[in-house]
Amino acid sequence: MNEAFFTVHRDLPREGPGEAADVLWALDVARTPEASRILDAGCGPGADTVALAEARGVADILALDLQEHFIEETRRRTARFGPRVRAEASSYINISGEFDLIWSAGAVYFHGIANVLEAWGPHLTPGGAVAFSEPAWMLDPPSDAARAFWGGEYEPKSLAGVEAEIHAAGWGILGQRWIVDEPWAAYYGPMSARLDQLEDSDPDAELQAAIKETRDEISKWQAARDEIAYSLFVVRRP
Ligand SMILES: C[S@@+](CC[C@H](N)C(=O)[O-])C[C@H]1O[C@@H](n2cnc3c(N)ncnc32)[C@H](O)[C@@H]1O
Repeated sequence: MNEAFFTVHRDLPREGPGEAADVLWALDVARTPEASRILDAGCGPGADTVALAEARGVADILALDLQEHFIEETRRRTARFGPRVRAEASSYINISGEFDLIWSAGAVYFHGIANVLEAWGPHLTPGGAVAFSEPAWMLDPPSDAARAFWGGEYEPKSLAGVEAEIHAAGWGILGQRWIVDEPWAAYYGPMSARLDQLEDSDPDAELQAAIKETRDEISKWQAARDEIAYSLFVVRRP
């Protein structure tokens, strides 16, 4: 990813679709206790780290991301929670310690479900769970508009396909729900506003190309917004 990509993806409240309601749902399904340890794996700019800290008022929360600037933003947004919320620039693959919940929005597909669950399994407390979101087709077969959105860059699986992958890794599914429409607007709305602002302020050719590419992505999402989805899973190893 080039510098123009990161210029577009800066100062946004979140870096993928999602809402605080998704976090609350997962905490409920996983029965994560009030006094718990939670990992936000691939936290981006920390929107869900804040939601986790608000929902579990005495939990210790660790937020990890590879991008230093996201970690700085997460630290800024979570400073009000004090030392119980920490953010570190580090990979979520080589973690230490134990967690009651590992939450990961839109970040597992970088490494693949089986690899990530294998890495995280030993770091869950007894009864601990993983909650993660993954691109998936809502309709089978998907519409041409939905196919055009994903554009071959990342080919989502069917819901059954993702479920099969989770089961093949030896995990059980405690709950599933779709992340569709509004949570995507929570991602693309602020991004549209940022594109308007950048377009007028910086003529750099690479940046203008990245702006156009992102506008195309948003138009394609709008054309199939009731069908472009991530599936959120709460999973546990029996
Ligand atoms: C699509 S963004 C989602 C960010 C955030 N969860 C959100 O919803 O706003 C995915 C994030 O995963 C991070 N990431 C990818 N691989 C990672 C790894 N091995 N360790 C930590 N973070 C990683 C990326 O840097 C990126 O910030």
